[in-house]
Amino acid sequence: MTGQAEVLRKVVARGYNISPEALSLLLEQENDVLEDLLDLIPDKAVIELQDLRDALERMRRRAQREAHLPGGEVDSLKVIRIPTNLGVKGTPDEFVEFMRKRFRFLKSVLAKKNGVDPIPISNLLNSTSRDGDRVLIVGMVLEKRVLRDFSIRMQVDDETGSIPVIFKKGGRYWEKADRIPVDSVVAIRGTFRRGRIYADSFRLPDINGELIEPASASGKVALISDIHMGSKYFNQEAFDRFVRWLGSDGARDVRYLVICGDLVDGVGVYPSQEDELKIADVYKQFRLASSFLERIPKDVRVVYIPGNHEPVRQAEPQPVVPDEYLNSLLEVRPDLMALPNPALVGIGDVRLMIYHGRSLNALFKHIPGLQPIRPETVVEAMTWMLRLRHLAPIYGEHPISPEREDWLLLDQVPHVLHTGHIHVYGVGEHNGVKVVNSGTFENETPYIKSLGIEVTVGKAILLDLRNLGVEVKDFSS
Ligand SMILES: [Fe+2]
Ligand SMILES: [Fe+2]
Repeated sequence: MTGQAEVLRKVVARGYNISPEALSLLLEQENDVLEDLLDLIPDKAVIELQDLRDALERMRRRAQREAHLPGGEVDSLKVIRIPTNLGVKGTPDEFVEFMRKRFRFLKSVLAKKNGVDPIPISNLLNSTSRDGDRVLIVGMVLEKRVLRDFSIRMQVDDETGSIPVIFKKGGRYWEKADRIPVDSVVAIRGTFRRGRIYADSFRLPDINGELIEPASASGKVALISDIHMGSKYFNQEAFDRFVRWLGSDGARDVRYLVICGDLVDGVGVYPSQEDELKIADVYKQFRLASSFLERIPKDVRVVYIPGNHEPVRQAEPQPVVPDEYLNSLLEVRPDLMALPNPALVGIGDVRLMIYHGRSLNALFKHIPGLQPIRPETVVEAMTWMLRLRHLAPIYGEHPISPEREDWLLLDQVPHVLHTGHIHVYGVGEHNGVKVVNSGTFENETPYIKSLGIEVTVGKAILLDLRNLGVEVKDFSS
Protein backbone atom coordinates (compact mmCIF):
# COMPACT_ATOMS: atom_id res chain seq x y z
CA MET A 1 0.00 0.00 0.00
CA THR A 2 1.20 3.43 -0.85
CA GLY A 3 0.33 6.93 0.26
CA GLN A 4 -2.32 8.70 -1.79
CA ALA A 5 -0.10 11.75 -2.43
CA GLU A 6 2.70 9.60 -3.80
CA VAL A 7 0.39 7.64 -6.09
CA LEU A 8 -1.18 10.81 -7.39
CA ARG A 9 2.26 12.26 -8.03
CA LYS A 10 3.16 9.22 -10.16
CA VAL A 11 -0.08 9.48 -12.13
CA VAL A 12 0.25 13.20 -12.73
CA ALA A 13 3.92 12.82 -13.71
CA ARG A 14 2.71 10.77 -16.65
CA GLY A 15 0.25 13.44 -17.68
CA TYR A 16 -2.85 11.49 -16.56
CA ASN A 17 -5.85 12.36 -14.44
CA ILE A 18 -7.59 9.61 -12.52
CA SER A 19 -11.18 8.99 -11.45
CA PRO A 20 -11.77 8.57 -7.68
CA GLU A 21 -12.83 4.88 -8.14
CA ALA A 22 -9.70 4.08 -10.13
CA LEU A 23 -7.56 5.89 -7.57
CA SER A 24 -8.91 3.84 -4.69
CA LEU A 25 -8.23 0.59 -6.63
CA LEU A 26 -4.74 1.85 -7.48
CA LEU A 27 -4.09 2.57 -3.81
CA GLU A 28 -4.72 -1.10 -3.03
CA GLN A 29 -1.82 -2.19 -5.25
CA GLU A 30 1.69 -2.87 -4.05
CA ASN A 31 4.11 0.00 -4.48
CA ASP A 32 6.63 -1.95 -6.57
CA VAL A 33 4.12 -2.79 -9.32
CA LEU A 34 2.71 0.73 -9.76
CA GLU A 35 5.05 1.83 -12.54
CA ASP A 36 4.59 -1.41 -14.48
CA LEU A 37 0.86 -1.13 -14.08
CA LEU A 38 0.77 2.46 -15.34
CA ASP A 39 2.85 1.34 -18.34
CA LEU A 40 0.02 -0.98 -19.32
CA ILE A 41 -2.61 1.76 -19.45
CA PRO A 42 -3.16 3.17 -22.93
CA ASP A 43 -2.63 6.91 -23.41
CA LYS A 44 -5.73 8.82 -22.33
CA ALA A 45 -6.66 11.92 -20.40
CA VAL A 46 -8.43 10.26 -17.48
CA ILE A 47 -7.78 6.79 -16.11
CA GLU A 48 -11.13 5.16 -15.41
CA LEU A 49 -11.81 2.14 -13.22
CA GLN A 50 -12.14 -0.15 -16.26
CA ASP A 51 -8.75 0.95 -17.65
CA LEU A 52 -7.14 -0.06 -14.41
CA ARG A 53 -9.00 -3.37 -14.25
CA ASP A 54 -7.84 -4.18 -17.81
CA ALA A 55 -4.26 -3.30 -16.94
CA LEU A 56 -4.39 -5.52 -13.83
CA GLU A 57 -5.70 -8.39 -15.94
CA ARG A 58 -2.89 -7.91 -18.47
CA MET A 59 -0.38 -7.90 -15.67
CA ARG A 60 -1.80 -11.11 -14.25
CA ARG A 61 -1.51 -12.80 -17.64
CA ARG A 62 1.99 -11.55 -18.15
CA ALA A 63 3.05 -12.99 -14.78
CA GLN A 64 1.44 -16.27 -15.77
CA ARG A 65 3.38 -16.34 -19.03
CA GLU A 66 6.63 -15.40 -17.37
CA ALA A 67 6.22 -18.40 -15.14
CA HIS A 68 6.79 -20.41 -18.34
CA LEU A 69 10.02 -18.69 -19.26
CA PRO A 70 13.41 -20.37 -18.68
CA GLY A 71 13.67 -21.74 -15.21
CA GLY A 72 9.92 -22.11 -14.80
CA GLU A 73 8.36 -25.47 -15.50
CA VAL A 74 4.78 -26.35 -16.21
CA ASP A 75 3.97 -30.03 -16.17
CA SER A 76 6.84 -31.56 -18.04
CA LEU A 77 6.89 -28.89 -20.75
CA LYS A 78 9.68 -26.39 -20.28
CA VAL A 79 11.53 -23.73 -22.18
CA ILE A 80 15.19 -24.63 -22.69
CA ARG A 81 16.43 -21.73 -24.78
CA ILE A 82 14.59 -18.81 -26.32
CA PRO A 83 15.77 -15.48 -27.69
CA THR A 84 15.81 -12.86 -24.94
CA ASN A 85 17.07 -9.34 -24.58
CA LEU A 86 16.35 -8.61 -28.24
CA GLY A 87 17.05 -5.25 -29.78
CA VAL A 88 20.13 -3.95 -31.52
CA LYS A 89 20.50 -1.01 -33.86
CA GLY A 90 21.59 -3.13 -36.83
CA THR A 91 24.79 -1.17 -37.45
CA PRO A 92 27.49 -2.58 -39.77
CA ASP A 93 29.73 -3.15 -36.72
CA GLU A 94 27.01 -5.22 -35.08
CA PHE A 95 26.70 -7.35 -38.23
CA VAL A 96 30.45 -7.91 -38.36
CA GLU A 97 30.58 -8.94 -34.72
CA PHE A 98 27.53 -11.17 -35.18
CA MET A 99 29.10 -13.09 -38.10
CA ARG A 100 32.40 -13.26 -36.23
CA LYS A 101 30.76 -14.92 -33.24
CA ARG A 102 28.99 -17.41 -35.49
CA PHE A 103 32.29 -18.20 -37.16
CA ARG A 104 34.10 -18.67 -33.86
CA PHE A 105 31.51 -21.13 -32.56
CA LEU A 106 31.42 -23.20 -35.76
CA LYS A 107 35.21 -23.14 -35.98
CA SER A 108 35.44 -24.59 -32.48
CA VAL A 109 32.97 -27.34 -33.46
CA LEU A 110 35.04 -28.19 -36.54
CA ALA A 111 38.37 -28.02 -34.69
CA LYS A 112 37.02 -30.52 -32.17
CA LYS A 113 35.87 -32.86 -34.93
CA ASN A 114 39.20 -32.75 -36.74
CA GLY A 115 41.28 -33.07 -33.60
CA VAL A 116 43.82 -30.56 -34.92
CA ASP A 117 43.87 -26.81 -34.96
CA PRO A 118 43.38 -25.28 -38.40
CA ILE A 119 46.07 -23.05 -39.87
CA PRO A 120 45.16 -19.35 -39.90
CA ILE A 121 44.82 -18.26 -43.53
CA SER A 122 47.21 -15.33 -43.04
CA ASN A 123 49.99 -17.78 -42.06
CA LEU A 124 49.67 -19.38 -45.48
CA LEU A 125 49.45 -16.15 -47.43
CA ASN A 126 52.49 -14.65 -45.72
CA SER A 127 54.72 -17.63 -46.23
CA THR A 128 56.91 -18.39 -49.19
CA SER A 129 58.05 -21.79 -48.00
CA ARG A 130 54.72 -23.58 -47.67
CA ASP A 131 54.14 -24.32 -51.34
CA GLY A 132 53.21 -27.97 -51.66
CA ASP A 133 52.25 -28.35 -47.97
CA ARG A 134 49.18 -30.30 -46.95
CA VAL A 135 47.02 -27.94 -44.92
CA LEU A 136 43.77 -27.77 -42.98
CA ILE A 137 41.87 -24.49 -42.74
CA VAL A 138 38.50 -23.53 -41.31
CA GLY A 139 36.74 -20.67 -43.04
CA MET A 140 33.46 -19.16 -44.15
CA VAL A 141 32.56 -19.50 -47.83
CA LEU A 142 32.13 -15.95 -49.07
CA GLU A 143 31.71 -16.66 -52.75
CA LYS A 144 31.41 -19.71 -54.94
CA ARG A 145 31.54 -20.13 -58.70
CA VAL A 146 32.20 -22.74 -61.34
CA LEU A 147 35.24 -22.08 -63.55
CA ARG A 148 35.49 -22.75 -67.28
CA ASP A 149 37.07 -26.16 -66.68
CA PHE A 150 34.15 -26.93 -64.27
CA SER A 151 36.36 -26.70 -61.20
CA ILE A 152 34.65 -25.04 -58.25
CA ARG A 153 36.32 -21.95 -56.90
CA MET A 154 35.40 -20.75 -53.43
CA GLN A 155 36.67 -17.66 -51.72
CA VAL A 156 37.12 -18.69 -48.10
CA ASP A 157 37.71 -16.31 -45.19
CA ASP A 158 38.76 -16.70 -41.62
CA GLU A 159 39.45 -13.95 -39.09
CA THR A 160 42.96 -13.44 -40.48
CA GLY A 161 42.60 -13.51 -44.25
CA SER A 162 40.95 -14.76 -47.43
CA ILE A 163 42.07 -17.48 -49.80
CA PRO A 164 40.78 -19.11 -53.01
CA VAL A 165 40.00 -22.80 -52.68
CA ILE A 166 39.72 -24.98 -55.78
CA PHE A 167 37.82 -28.26 -56.05
CA LYS A 168 38.93 -29.86 -59.33
CA LYS A 169 36.24 -31.38 -61.54
CA GLY A 170 36.35 -35.14 -61.19
CA GLY A 171 37.65 -35.00 -57.61
CA ARG A 172 35.91 -37.13 -55.03
CA TYR A 173 34.42 -34.11 -53.26
CA TRP A 174 33.56 -32.01 -56.32
CA GLU A 175 29.89 -32.87 -56.37
CA LYS A 176 29.52 -32.42 -52.62
CA ALA A 177 31.40 -29.12 -52.74
CA ASP A 178 29.03 -27.89 -55.43
CA ARG A 179 26.21 -28.07 -52.90
CA ILE A 180 27.88 -26.03 -50.14
CA PRO A 181 25.98 -22.74 -49.99
CA VAL A 182 27.66 -19.40 -49.36
CA ASP A 183 28.12 -18.37 -45.70
CA SER A 184 28.77 -21.99 -44.69
CA VAL A 185 31.60 -22.53 -42.25
CA VAL A 186 33.68 -25.49 -43.41
CA ALA A 187 36.95 -27.26 -42.65
CA ILE A 188 38.95 -27.81 -45.83
CA ARG A 189 41.91 -30.08 -46.34
CA GLY A 190 44.13 -29.76 -49.38
CA THR A 191 47.45 -28.70 -50.83
CA PHE A 192 48.63 -25.11 -50.67
CA ARG A 193 50.09 -23.94 -53.96
CA ARG A 194 50.75 -20.44 -55.33
CA GLY A 195 48.38 -18.63 -52.99
CA ARG A 196 45.53 -21.13 -53.37
CA ILE A 197 44.37 -24.32 -51.75
CA TYR A 198 43.67 -27.28 -54.05
CA ALA A 199 41.15 -29.06 -51.91
CA ASP A 200 40.65 -32.78 -51.75
CA SER A 201 38.12 -32.98 -48.93
CA PHE A 202 36.02 -30.88 -46.59
CA ARG A 203 33.89 -31.27 -43.51
CA LEU A 204 30.78 -29.48 -42.31
CA PRO A 205 29.98 -28.74 -38.65
CA ASP A 206 27.18 -31.31 -38.95
CA ILE A 207 25.57 -32.67 -35.81
CA ASN A 208 26.93 -36.00 -34.67
CA GLY A 209 24.74 -38.93 -33.85
CA GLU A 210 26.71 -39.62 -30.69
CA LEU A 211 25.78 -36.24 -29.24
CA ILE A 212 22.18 -37.26 -29.02
CA GLU A 213 21.34 -39.23 -25.94
CA PRO A 214 18.12 -41.21 -26.08
CA ALA A 215 15.12 -39.37 -24.68
CA SER A 216 11.50 -40.01 -24.08
CA ALA A 217 8.42 -38.59 -22.42
CA SER A 218 4.85 -39.72 -22.14
CA GLY A 219 2.09 -38.79 -24.53
CA LYS A 220 2.05 -37.40 -28.02
CA VAL A 221 2.57 -33.97 -29.46
CA ALA A 222 0.68 -32.72 -32.51
CA LEU A 223 2.81 -30.54 -34.77
CA ILE A 224 1.06 -28.08 -37.10
CA SER A 225 1.85 -24.78 -38.82
CA ASP A 226 0.69 -22.30 -41.46
CA ILE A 227 -3.02 -22.22 -40.68
CA HIS A 228 -3.37 -18.72 -42.20
CA MET A 229 -6.66 -17.78 -40.53
CA GLY A 230 -8.19 -14.82 -42.30
CA SER A 231 -7.00 -15.93 -45.74
CA LYS A 232 -9.63 -16.74 -48.35
CA TYR A 233 -7.76 -19.98 -48.83
CA PHE A 234 -7.78 -21.07 -45.15
CA ASN A 235 -9.20 -24.59 -45.22
CA GLN A 236 -11.62 -24.17 -42.36
CA GLU A 237 -13.24 -27.59 -42.89
CA ALA A 238 -9.93 -29.43 -42.56
CA PHE A 239 -8.92 -27.44 -39.49
CA ASP A 240 -12.32 -27.97 -37.96
CA ARG A 241 -11.92 -31.75 -38.46
CA PHE A 242 -8.51 -31.58 -36.77
CA VAL A 243 -9.88 -29.67 -33.76
CA ARG A 244 -12.83 -32.06 -33.48
CA TRP A 245 -10.47 -35.02 -33.63
CA LEU A 246 -8.35 -33.53 -30.80
CA GLY A 247 -11.45 -33.70 -28.62
CA SER A 248 -12.17 -37.31 -29.54
CA ASP A 249 -11.21 -40.54 -27.81
CA GLY A 250 -8.70 -41.31 -30.55
CA ALA A 251 -6.62 -38.30 -29.52
CA ARG A 252 -6.62 -39.00 -25.79
CA ASP A 253 -2.83 -39.38 -25.66
CA VAL A 254 -2.20 -36.07 -27.45
CA ARG A 255 -0.95 -33.86 -24.62
CA TYR A 256 0.68 -31.02 -26.54
CA LEU A 257 -0.01 -29.00 -29.64
CA VAL A 258 2.74 -26.98 -31.31
CA ILE A 259 1.74 -24.21 -33.75
CA CYS A 260 4.88 -23.37 -35.68
CA GLY A 261 3.94 -19.93 -37.00
CA ASP A 262 1.60 -18.35 -39.58
CA LEU A 263 -1.43 -19.07 -37.38
CA VAL A 264 -3.05 -15.98 -38.91
CA ASP A 265 -2.63 -14.57 -42.41
CA GLY A 266 -1.94 -11.06 -41.09
CA VAL A 267 -2.38 -7.92 -43.16
CA GLY A 268 0.03 -6.14 -45.47
CA VAL A 269 2.44 -9.07 -45.52
CA TYR A 270 2.90 -8.80 -49.30
CA PRO A 271 1.56 -6.42 -51.98
CA SER A 272 -2.19 -6.79 -52.74
CA GLN A 273 -2.64 -9.31 -49.94
CA GLU A 274 -6.03 -7.70 -49.25
CA ASP A 275 -7.37 -9.39 -52.41
CA GLU A 276 -6.72 -12.75 -50.80
CA LEU A 277 -8.13 -11.95 -47.37
CA LYS A 278 -11.52 -12.99 -46.10
CA ILE A 279 -10.89 -11.20 -42.80
CA ALA A 280 -8.94 -8.00 -43.34
CA ASP A 281 -8.61 -7.15 -39.63
CA VAL A 282 -5.79 -8.90 -37.83
CA TYR A 283 -7.54 -8.68 -34.43
CA LYS A 284 -10.52 -10.50 -35.97
CA GLN A 285 -8.16 -13.11 -37.42
CA PHE A 286 -6.91 -13.77 -33.89
CA ARG A 287 -10.48 -13.94 -32.64
CA LEU A 288 -11.21 -16.61 -35.22
CA ALA A 289 -8.10 -18.47 -34.05
CA SER A 290 -9.28 -18.24 -30.44
CA SER A 291 -12.66 -19.72 -31.38
CA PHE A 292 -10.80 -22.84 -32.50
CA LEU A 293 -8.31 -22.90 -29.62
CA GLU A 294 -11.20 -22.65 -27.19
CA ARG A 295 -12.51 -25.99 -28.43
CA ILE A 296 -9.26 -27.86 -27.93
CA PRO A 297 -9.36 -29.96 -24.72
CA LYS A 298 -7.97 -28.06 -21.76
CA ASP A 299 -5.45 -30.77 -20.93
CA VAL A 300 -3.66 -30.21 -24.24
CA ARG A 301 -0.84 -27.68 -23.68
CA VAL A 302 -0.52 -25.33 -26.64
CA VAL A 303 2.80 -23.83 -27.74
CA TYR A 304 2.75 -21.04 -30.30
CA ILE A 305 5.54 -19.20 -32.10
CA PRO A 306 5.17 -16.48 -34.76
CA GLY A 307 5.98 -16.80 -38.45
CA ASN A 308 6.35 -14.18 -41.16
CA HIS A 309 2.57 -13.58 -41.29
CA GLU A 310 2.23 -12.65 -37.60
CA PRO A 311 2.00 -8.98 -36.59
CA VAL A 312 5.43 -8.85 -34.98
CA ARG A 313 8.91 -7.80 -36.06
CA GLN A 314 9.91 -9.67 -39.20
CA ALA A 315 13.63 -9.89 -38.53
CA GLU A 316 14.63 -13.21 -37.01
CA PRO A 317 14.76 -14.03 -34.19
CA GLN A 318 11.18 -12.85 -33.79
CA PRO A 319 9.83 -11.86 -30.38
CA VAL A 320 6.60 -13.28 -28.95
CA VAL A 321 3.43 -11.98 -30.65
CA PRO A 322 2.48 -8.79 -28.73
CA ASP A 323 -0.20 -8.91 -26.04
CA GLU A 324 -2.68 -6.77 -27.97
CA TYR A 325 -3.09 -9.62 -30.48
CA LEU A 326 -2.41 -12.49 -28.14
CA ASN A 327 -5.04 -11.39 -25.65
CA SER A 328 -7.95 -13.02 -27.45
CA LEU A 329 -6.04 -16.35 -27.45
CA LEU A 330 -5.10 -15.96 -23.78
CA GLU A 331 -8.71 -15.29 -22.87
CA VAL A 332 -9.66 -18.80 -23.96
CA ARG A 333 -6.33 -20.44 -23.05
CA PRO A 334 -4.61 -18.60 -20.22
CA ASP A 335 -1.95 -21.33 -20.17
CA LEU A 336 -0.98 -20.76 -23.83
CA MET A 337 2.80 -20.91 -24.09
CA ALA A 338 3.49 -18.10 -26.56
CA LEU A 339 7.18 -18.08 -27.39
CA PRO A 340 9.57 -16.29 -29.74
CA ASN A 341 10.73 -17.78 -33.05
CA PRO A 342 12.85 -19.91 -32.78
CA ALA A 343 12.34 -21.68 -29.45
CA LEU A 344 13.94 -24.76 -27.97
CA VAL A 345 11.53 -26.50 -25.60
CA GLY A 346 11.79 -29.67 -23.60
CA ILE A 347 9.07 -32.22 -23.00
CA GLY A 348 10.38 -34.67 -20.46
CA ASP A 349 13.94 -35.01 -21.72
CA VAL A 350 13.01 -34.66 -25.41
CA ARG A 351 14.39 -31.44 -26.90
CA LEU A 352 12.17 -29.94 -29.57
CA MET A 353 13.46 -27.07 -31.71
CA ILE A 354 10.61 -25.04 -33.15
CA TYR A 355 11.48 -22.66 -35.98
CA HIS A 356 9.03 -21.21 -38.50
CA GLY A 357 11.40 -21.95 -41.39
CA ARG A 358 11.65 -18.78 -43.42
CA SER A 359 15.24 -19.68 -44.33
CA LEU A 360 13.96 -22.67 -46.33
CA ASN A 361 13.40 -20.35 -49.32
CA ALA A 362 17.11 -19.47 -49.41
CA LEU A 363 18.16 -23.09 -48.97
CA PHE A 364 15.98 -24.15 -51.90
CA LYS A 365 17.36 -21.31 -53.99
CA HIS A 366 21.05 -21.80 -53.27
CA ILE A 367 21.63 -25.53 -52.88
CA PRO A 368 21.74 -27.42 -56.18
CA GLY A 369 19.56 -30.52 -56.32
CA LEU A 370 16.83 -29.39 -53.91
CA GLN A 371 14.29 -28.26 -56.53
CA PRO A 372 11.46 -28.98 -57.01
CA ILE A 373 9.95 -28.56 -53.55
CA ARG A 374 8.42 -31.87 -52.48
CA PRO A 375 8.36 -33.86 -49.22
CA GLU A 376 11.78 -35.48 -49.77
CA THR A 377 13.50 -32.22 -50.66
CA VAL A 378 11.88 -30.40 -47.73
CA VAL A 379 13.52 -32.97 -45.46
CA GLU A 380 16.78 -32.55 -47.36
CA ALA A 381 16.65 -28.74 -47.00
CA MET A 382 16.03 -29.08 -43.26
CA THR A 383 18.94 -31.49 -43.09
CA TRP A 384 21.17 -28.68 -44.35
CA MET A 385 20.22 -26.66 -41.25
CA LEU A 386 21.63 -29.51 -39.18
CA ARG A 387 24.69 -29.99 -41.40
CA LEU A 388 25.55 -26.31 -41.17
CA ARG A 389 24.46 -26.12 -37.49
CA HIS A 390 22.36 -23.02 -38.16
CA LEU A 391 18.64 -22.48 -38.71
CA ALA A 392 19.24 -19.70 -41.28
CA PRO A 393 22.69 -20.48 -42.65
CA ILE A 394 22.48 -18.31 -45.78
CA TYR A 395 22.67 -14.64 -45.01
CA GLY A 396 20.81 -11.83 -46.75
CA GLU A 397 17.70 -13.50 -48.20
CA HIS A 398 15.42 -12.53 -45.34
CA PRO A 399 15.91 -10.10 -42.47
CA ILE A 400 18.05 -11.33 -39.60
CA SER A 401 18.82 -9.10 -36.66
CA PRO A 402 22.46 -9.17 -35.51
CA GLU A 403 21.61 -9.77 -31.87
CA ARG A 404 24.21 -10.05 -29.13
CA GLU A 405 23.71 -13.81 -29.25
CA ASP A 406 23.07 -15.84 -32.40
CA TRP A 407 19.80 -17.47 -31.41
CA LEU A 408 19.54 -19.32 -34.74
CA LEU A 409 22.74 -21.23 -34.13
CA LEU A 410 22.19 -24.89 -33.33
CA ASP A 411 24.50 -25.20 -30.37
CA GLN A 412 22.33 -27.60 -28.39
CA VAL A 413 21.39 -30.50 -30.62
CA PRO A 414 17.62 -31.07 -30.55
CA HIS A 415 15.96 -34.49 -30.80
CA VAL A 416 13.33 -33.03 -33.10
CA LEU A 417 13.46 -30.09 -35.49
CA HIS A 418 10.02 -28.74 -36.42
CA THR A 419 9.51 -26.12 -39.15
CA GLY A 420 6.71 -24.95 -41.42
CA HIS A 421 6.57 -22.01 -43.85
CA ILE A 422 7.09 -23.85 -47.11
CA HIS A 423 3.55 -25.36 -47.04
CA VAL A 424 4.85 -28.78 -48.07
CA TYR A 425 5.14 -31.39 -45.37
CA GLY A 426 8.08 -33.67 -44.91
CA VAL A 427 9.17 -36.17 -42.28
CA GLY A 428 12.63 -37.65 -42.03
CA GLU A 429 15.70 -38.11 -39.92
CA HIS A 430 19.28 -36.95 -40.04
CA ASN A 431 22.00 -38.39 -37.78
CA GLY A 432 19.41 -39.30 -35.18
CA VAL A 433 17.50 -36.00 -35.30
CA LYS A 434 13.86 -36.20 -36.41
CA VAL A 435 13.00 -33.48 -38.89
CA VAL A 436 9.39 -32.52 -39.42
CA ASN A 437 7.79 -29.93 -41.61
CA SER A 438 4.11 -29.78 -40.82
CA GLY A 439 2.68 -28.49 -44.13
CA THR A 440 -0.32 -26.17 -44.01
CA PHE A 441 -4.05 -25.74 -43.51
CA GLU A 442 -4.23 -23.23 -46.35
CA ASN A 443 -5.30 -24.33 -49.81
CA GLU A 444 -3.13 -23.48 -52.78
CA THR A 445 -2.94 -19.70 -53.25
CA PRO A 446 -2.36 -18.12 -56.69
CA TYR A 447 1.15 -17.15 -55.55
CA ILE A 448 2.05 -20.68 -54.48
CA LYS A 449 0.52 -21.98 -57.70
CA SER A 450 2.73 -19.64 -59.73
CA LEU A 451 5.75 -21.20 -58.01
CA GLY A 452 4.62 -24.65 -59.08
CA ILE A 453 4.59 -25.93 -55.50
CA GLU A 454 2.22 -28.72 -54.61
CA VAL A 455 1.05 -27.83 -51.11
CA THR A 456 0.21 -30.37 -48.41
CA VAL A 457 -3.08 -29.25 -46.90
CA GLY A 458 -4.68 -30.49 -43.70
CA LYS A 459 -2.06 -32.81 -42.23
CA ALA A 460 -1.01 -32.90 -38.59
CA ILE A 461 2.15 -34.68 -37.55
CA LEU A 462 1.85 -36.74 -34.39
CA LEU A 463 5.08 -37.30 -32.56
CA ASP A 464 5.03 -40.11 -30.04
CA LEU A 465 7.21 -38.89 -27.20
CA ARG A 466 7.86 -42.41 -25.91
CA ASN A 467 9.90 -43.45 -28.95
CA LEU A 468 9.95 -40.37 -31.22
CA GLY A 469 7.89 -42.28 -33.76
CA VAL A 470 5.95 -40.15 -36.20
CA GLU A 471 2.47 -40.60 -37.58
CA VAL A 472 0.91 -38.37 -40.24
CA LYS A 473 -2.81 -37.69 -39.72
CA ASP A 474 -4.74 -36.44 -42.70
CA PHE A 475 -7.71 -34.10 -42.13
CA SER A 476 -8.03 -32.89 -45.72
CA SER A 477 -11.19 -34.89 -46.39
FE1 LIG B 1 2.76 -19.95 -44.26
FE1 LIG C 1 5.63 -18.49 -43.45
